Amino acid sequence: MKKILVIHGPNLNLLGEREPEVYGRVSMKTIDAALKKMAKANGVAVEIFQSNHEGEIVSKIGEAKRKFDAILINPAAYTHTSVAIRDAVAAVKLPTVEVHLSNIYAREAFRHESLVAPVATGQISGFGAASYELGLLALVKLL
Ligand code: DQA
Repeated sequence: MKKILVIHGPNLNLLGEREPEVYGRVSMKTIDAALKKMAKANGVAVEIFQSNHEGEIVSKIGEAKRKFDAILINPAAYTHTSVAIRDAVAAVKLPTVEVHLSNIYAREAFRHESLVAPVATGQISGFGAASYELGLLALVKLL
């Protein structure tokens, strides 16, 4: 069975309460449950990881090479700042889909650049919690 690593970056543990007008009222727990259900229905396995620490995310991606077939990641604020996360994604060379709940291109200028997007297979941005499900489906199609 193909295995997909799902990574939530910083502050996504606060989803549901955090700026609901931007990110919606769906909690991370609810998103994770939907992903697990969708994974099961599509015959893939998911492991879900959340961290507020850049280094932990870098390490998790680095260890993914031998353990996973693909990565679904919302790097959150690190999207716009982390050369280390970008380099980790480039290093492991796994199919990777970057997702965002909000449309980062419709927001502040500092969110318009993703350092991760150029080394990802693709990006889904702006569909709320559904961005994650669309991202998972994209990987299922790819694998
Ligand atoms: C986000 C967008 C980022 O700019 C922001 O820092 C986040 C969440 C999103 O899912 O819309 O924390 O990745």
